[in-house]
Amino acid sequence: MLDDRSLDVLFRNARVHNGWQNKPVSDDQLRAIYELMKWGPTSANSSPARIVFVRTREGKERLRPALSSGNTEKTMNAPVTAIIAYDTRFYEHLPRLFPHNQTAVSWFAGPKNRTVAEATAFRNGSLQGAYLMIAARTLGLDVGPMSGFDNAKVDAAFFADGRFRSNFLCNIGYGDPGKLFNRNPRLAFEEACTLA
Ligand SMILES: Cc1cc2nc3c(=O)[nH]c(=O)nc-3n(C[C@H](O)[C@H](O)[C@H](O)COP(=O)(O)O)c2cc1C
Repeated sequence: MLDDRSLDVLFRNARVHNGWQNKPVSDDQLRAIYELMKWGPTSANSSPARIVFVRTREGKERLRPALSSGNTEKTMNAPVTAIIAYDTRFYEHLPRLFPHNQTAVSWFAGPKNRTVAEATAFRNGSLQGAYLMIAARTLGLDVGPMSGFDNAKVDAAFFADGRFRSNFLCNIGYGDPGKLFNRNPRLAFEEACTLA
């Protein structure tokens, strides 16, 4: 089991950040995040998440028109904004990612499987986005996830061929504690969980 300090860093004291210190995040750190998050489980090891780490001025300007007004300043100021997307044709990698069952592609390919393929990509891509946030926190970084943006605009700007679709955005950097919102309560165990 992890020690108490680790649990604080990952969960109890970890906050969603809205402002960023003027401290860079290197490409090596982004690789380190991916090298941890990739081990998180996905159904049939499908690994549908695709991530664009936007960290140049030019890239941020491509993002800007898609951002809601409340998310614009903090995103433009963040060292990195990850676009957490998913590959609508993730199943093409299954012969390599799920090699012991070479029929797995047939569960998802083709028009008749579109609904299950979409649900699988979105479900597992969302989980991988959560793994990304926890991985970033293990490495001492802070995150700021956002769904307040225009997905169609992001997709047109970054995924023009239509294969990948954006899910949510996540700023990454070293948070400015002065810009935190108040911590909101969470549901108690009894409200959120039942024992069956
Ligand atoms: C998928 C997702 C989307 C979110 N979208 C936004 C957003 O668009 N703008 C924003 O300011 N916060 C956004 N948040 C942040 C939540 O409001 C935040 O996680 C929540 O208030 C908990 O913050 P705390 O962990 O610091 O207590 C989002 C969080 C998640 C996980």
